[in-house]
Amino acid sequence: MKRASCLVLWSVVALLALALTAGPALCAGKLKIGIVFSMTGGAAAYGVSQKEGAQLAIEQVNAAAGSGIQIDAVFEDDASVPQQGINVYNKLINGDKVAVIIGPTLSNTAKITDPIAQQAGVPVLAVSNTAGGITEIGDFIFRDSLTEAVVIPNTIKTAKEKLRFKKVAVFYGNDDAFTKSGYDVFKKVLQEEGVQILSEQTFAKGDRDFSPQLTQIKAQNPDAIICSALVEEASGIVSQARQLGIAKSIPIIGGNGFNSPALMKNAGEAAEGVIVGAAWNAAATNPLNLKFVDDYTKKYNRAPDQFAAQAFTGVQIVYKAATTANSADNRKAIRDAMAKIKDMDTLLGKFSFTEGRDANHSPVVQEVKGGKFAVFAR
Ligand code: ALA
Repeated sequence: MKRASCLVLWSVVALLALALTAGPALCAGKLKIGIVFSMTGGAAAYGVSQKEGAQLAIEQVNAAAGSGIQIDAVFEDDASVPQQGINVYNKLINGDKVAVIIGPTLSNTAKITDPIAQQAGVPVLAVSNTAGGITEIGDFIFRDSLTEAVVIPNTIKTAKEKLRFKKVAVFYGNDDAFTKSGYDVFKKVLQEEGVQILSEQTFAKGDRDFSPQLTQIKAQNPDAIICSALVEEASGIVSQARQLGIAKSIPIIGGNGFNSPALMKNAGEAAEGVIVGAAWNAAATNPLNLKFVDDYTKKYNRAPDQFAAQAFTGVQIVYKAATTANSADNRKAIRDAMAKIKDMDTLLGKFSFTEGRDANHSPVVQEVKGGKFAVFAR
């Protein structure tokens, strides 16, 4: 064999050996994430917290990533309006060509935007949708937010055990996917628990005067008021209930929509004693939660809420999926890696997806005490 061809042969052998021993090269590049939150409109109280939580996670992930995959986030505001959600989804998928989407804030919007991503093969991670029927849209749709179906039974059972209510009034928004879904779960659990429903009252998004319904509720003298509402309407209902003289001894029990400090900001003293089912306990002492609360408070000068915590975790989940898939842009590979996430250490605790791509961890019950959410313990 001539010397030159021998050299070529040995070079090929050496390269092959290197490839076999070194394993696959770690991928670098930009992981383009489209992030759709309601920054304006009725759900802005959630969206602003979510954006802050996501931004904190992005900063921390990128600082730790070094020359590995870096997150390049494209934030969009859906203005709390489903049609605007459709517009920004189309832009993110076809214009920005994002690898993954986080959001939107509201289930009501997700119900019509997620089918667009499913159709295009773009994975979506919901971080605040809690209505039923979201992940059922398709196998590219995930969520890290516990559903009403998981949270509400725990809320009602825990509260009933302590407060022993027997007859309640139910008040809910009948024009929104989340508030309607929460109502369905509340009703089912109340019936299972043998609690009498004295009446069912409804309101619509954007309503400001709840006194006609609350006056009827007051006349029925319930042991508790069960309410499925987003925070704008929830704040009005809580304030006006107390203004109309519905005594503090009649607790108001809410679902996920109540889970914002905007409730206390808007309703003030009237919010005291409100009981809320939640997915995140601000006081949890696991090290990741302590670090998150500390970092967030230092950065934004106020304490985080559940929406910030779930958005922060969402960014970490998407990033883990991309690094496990070893790809910043292969949508299908990132989807497949996300489906396999198991026992990931997060501030929510060990995080895994269920078979149906929903969150799987324990809910908590909270109560407003001294203007803050505290673990319900009466
Ligand atoms: N949990 C609320 C929803 O799903 C924000 O719409």
